[in-house]
Amino acid sequence: MRDFLIAGNWKMNGSNATNDVLVSNIVDGIPNGEGFKLLVCPPFPYLISIASQVSNSAISLGAQNVSEHESGAFTGETSAAMLKELGCEYVIVGHSERRAIFGETSEQVAAKYIAAQKAGITPILCVGETLEEREAGATEEVVIGQLDAILDAAGVDSFASAVIAYEPVWAIGTGVTATPGQAQDVHRRIRMRLVKHNSDLADSIQILYGGSMKGENASGLLAMPDIDGGLIGGASLKADDFLAIAAAAAVAGQKS
Ligand code: 13P
Repeated sequence: MRDFLIAGNWKMNGSNATNDVLVSNIVDGIPNGEGFKLLVCPPFPYLISIASQVSNSAISLGAQNVSEHESGAFTGETSAAMLKELGCEYVIVGHSERRAIFGETSEQVAAKYIAAQKAGITPILCVGETLEEREAGATEEVVIGQLDAILDAAGVDSFASAVIAYEPVWAIGTGVTATPGQAQDVHRRIRMRLVKHNSDLADSIQILYGGSMKGENASGLLAMPDIDGGLIGGASLKADDFLAIAAAAAVAGQKS
């Protein structure tokens, strides 16, 4: 059985005042039901205050990035051990914005994934193709290549404590959502790639969809057999929008 994970990636948004309202509204509005978990990933400066705000709730805390290094002279970086100490259960690695804007390579993403796990944090590994890659028929090659980089560096057993997020770059922040069929097709390929190595792990790993997910399209996506939740950007910044997606997960129940 796989629970849904509904994760908010706030990106570089928020302030003390807006976060306070957002988190308390989410806490107050968590839908009844089982088989789903909510996660918020605020920017680094707010982790401490939000950790205390969610501490007595069913909401988990995650970070958006982590250093691949353990400690030392790495100005401006944040280690996995530090995130752990602040109460982070999860960290996003390999988001397309970090790959494209900050030049992170798959090797670096793998090193971050390994560093997170070493500190006891679950990495949320993002994979996804650009529009050009999709139009060139290279979706599978790109996505599986990004997955293989982690399999090679960390091994299949590492996926026992990891989450994968398929985020087609053309759907991120564009309002264009992958259709449930398009997303399911890639999610299936990701799971089948893992089946080759370890079918039990492939069965149990959560694969999230990300890219303009909203209350209106969440039910259709979450109904797909290999979509186990969402990594949500824009719609995670408004409590009502985020809770509408959570409600869709609560209705959908677990995946068997
Ligand atoms: P949007 O939901 O704003 O498209 O962002 C998706 C995303 O990048 C989550 O990591």
